[in-house]
Amino acid sequence: MEARIPAPPNVLSPEHVVDPWPGLAVLREHYPVHYDADAEFWMLSRYSDIRPISRGSGPGPAFQELLGQYLGDAVSFPSLDGAEHRHRRRLLAPFFARSGVESFQYRIERQARGLLEPIVERERAAVAAGLRTRGEMDFIEEFTSRFPLHVMIDMLDLPEVDYPRMHAWFRAWTGAEGNVSRDPELFERALWAREDFGEFILPIIAERRSSDADDLISKMCVAELDGMALPDEEVRSIAAGMILGGGETTDHQLGWLMHELTGHPEQQQALAEDRALMDKALAESMRHSSIVQYIGRTPTEDLQVRGTTIPAGSSVALLIASANHDPDRWQNPDEFDMFRTDHDASKAFIGSAEHLGFGAGPHFCIGSHLSKMEMELAMNLVLDNIGDIRLADGFEAQPDPAPFIRSLPSLKITFEVR
Ligand code: HEM
Repeated sequence: MEARIPAPPNVLSPEHVVDPWPGLAVLREHYPVHYDADAEFWMLSRYSDIRPISRGSGPGPAFQELLGQYLGDAVSFPSLDGAEHRHRRRLLAPFFARSGVESFQYRIERQARGLLEPIVERERAAVAAGLRTRGEMDFIEEFTSRFPLHVMIDMLDLPEVDYPRMHAWFRAWTGAEGNVSRDPELFERALWAREDFGEFILPIIAERRSSDADDLISKMCVAELDGMALPDEEVRSIAAGMILGGGETTDHQLGWLMHELTGHPEQQQALAEDRALMDKALAESMRHSSIVQYIGRTPTEDLQVRGTTIPAGSSVALLIASANHDPDRWQNPDEFDMFRTDHDASKAFIGSAEHLGFGAGPHFCIGSHLSKMEMELAMNLVLDNIGDIRLADGFEAQPDPAPFIRSLPSLKITFEVR
């Protein structure tokens, strides 16, 4: 009897997002080049196909349509390609290079300490008072959901009193990003965020044109390349993109890393005892727990993939999470194993990274060094202060069903306070 070939998954459905791995395996095995007629996009799922294509042009107008239009009035630079894109990348690159990010280290550490230390103190006091035997916290609700966003706001040097307003813009933008049902209210909210952010930021940009301060807005305002400076509208849309891209990614990655460490106590113990393993832990997290599920591409010429022609101008989703679990590239791909020998951890945060969690090519994540520094500082601080970290009794992690970025809204843990 012939084995039945399973149907391709609906990658936008909540069921798929919550547990994407079985569906991605079906795509890789049976439908490596697949057109989803409902979603009207092509999907590629194998590592060997995705890697070269992601190195070509970028997301193009698809990014502008998905998010750029909500960030500001200028075209957002991730939706540009060629010379226009290269020029902006070169202008911004020094701030996001490792050396550039190091100049923000004290701000990152300040934010991590400011959030974590009061929690550790609270739990130390609770245990000392006999209220409980182990410390408790919601790692995501209390820490990661705030930390990278606060770092970004600090790097842009925006007033602390406006944090609630910034949280509201941030929620409005992420709402539009996950709006698969095309709820008009979520789009309205994102448009409101664009207007409100514009009213807030444009006077700040004007003020910082003549500033020699070391915050990111002042640096962007005075930066020049080949005699060209960034106009106000572009600084505005880049700053909005930073709040969104900087706030919404590293937090989820940290959440998943903690989730995996609670599930693998021997790896947690090894990392706590030997922090030189941090690079390996972070690299494995980027591969195993890809938060960005797919990146978009719009080929300018017909693409030939495995004998199928993808017409120029089509929307193509490169399923990078699938590539990071492709058994043709990785041994036991679904296993979190920071000791794996088929992944070069030393390259995980640079353009030649072997995993595809940051994409590849000219649009490779510009924030990779920043996210590494944030994760490294945060995890070291956590492991310095708490140990034997476990999921709280009865707690089961439930991923958010939004399709583009896979995240955990809550992670309740218990621990020993050091
Ligand atoms: C673990 C954390 C992060 C992950 C997983 C991540 C993921 C990605 C991915 C997959 C891309 C490629 C998009 C494409 O090729 O179409 C990208 C690009 C980008 N990321 Fe990140 N990112 C992270 C952190 C950050 C941070 C902290 C920032 C803030 C500065 C940031 C800002 C950007 C920007 C501006 C781009 C567009 C670059 C371009 O088009 O040239 N990301 N990111």
